[in-house]
Amino acid sequence: MADHWLPPIYWDGDTVAILDQRLLPHKEVVLRCTTLRQVVHAIKKMAIRGAPAVGVAGAMALALGARTIEAADTQTFQNKFVRLCQQVKNARPTGNNLSWAVERVFSVVVENAKEEVCTLKELIRKMADTIMKEDVENNLAIGAWGKQVIPRGARILTYCNAGALATADYGTAVGVIRSAFEADPSVSVISCETRPFLQGSRLTVYELMKARIPVTLITDNAVGTMMQQKKVDVVVLGADRIAANGDTANKIGTYMVAVLAATHNIPFYVAAPRSTIDPILSDGSLIPIEQRDPQEVTHLNGRPVAPRGARAMNPAFDVTPNKYITGIITEVGVLRKPYGKSIRNALQT
Ligand code: MRU
Repeated sequence: MADHWLPPIYWDGDTVAILDQRLLPHKEVVLRCTTLRQVVHAIKKMAIRGAPAVGVAGAMALALGARTIEAADTQTFQNKFVRLCQQVKNARPTGNNLSWAVERVFSVVVENAKEEVCTLKELIRKMADTIMKEDVENNLAIGAWGKQVIPRGARILTYCNAGALATADYGTAVGVIRSAFEADPSVSVISCETRPFLQGSRLTVYELMKARIPVTLITDNAVGTMMQQKKVDVVVLGADRIAANGDTANKIGTYMVAVLAATHNIPFYVAAPRSTIDPILSDGSLIPIEQRDPQEVTHLNGRPVAPRGARAMNPAFDVTPNKYITGIITEVGVLRKPYGKSIRNALQT
């Protein structure tokens, strides 16, 4: 494995460069997207994934799309731009960061309605850059808050990939792990493989090995026994959408980990920026859950692992009720129960 670090997404001149995460850890291939449609395709096909990274990609897609709009006046531009916003928003339904980013970019157009069309295009690109820059800053802050809840020498269990690859850089849950490791090199990580897409084994282990943070890979099925054998001190993982009451959607299997952690009295932390919080949804039952192609379950690396014609279901996310969550680590601090109140305060900060 090469030692260098390739960011998940960046501007290469006027091209959006995306590290194709479907090919990791074996191949580091960068996709070069020159159109909104190509970026949307990369999001849908999971070349780029992870809620904050998808938000950043969505904003960059809009910057590409805006450039192609032909409009003599700002109202015409706005009418055409709305349609692009809708296309981008629909790329993946569960993560809040995508619709948050689209709305933030769209507000630039509304707030600058008196500007020339060419100025609007520049401002959209600037906003995409800001969203990317702020994501890294937020992750560093999440890391700084999060390391304070990690006990000395902790064995930290994480799920899926909430790392640099899932964000603009540094990561949310993996950001907490990076910060904790910097302060205390005796911490170590247990990464669950995360069937069916294997973000844990392919991406989290890849990232942590690059960062030289000790990591042990387990199957998702091994979480219970690891906890029973007292081999896990704390759980830290990411989020795709957090409802107003703290219920949290994250990668399918997270709920299972949360229930096990509660049974074994192990603290269970969610790490996410405030852009993952959806204050409009009162509770987690309202979070839209993406259903992905059943072939991701019946096949592994393109090879069938079930009888031909086997019926399969593939919900990509589940919802962990707030009662199982010890704290939500954000860029403005660690939120505690009751989450209705702490989330409201955090969003006003
Ligand atoms: O389907 P994915 O790979 O986009 O799902 C990713 C997750 O569930 C992550 O845990 C979540 O987005 C947090 S990433 C900082």
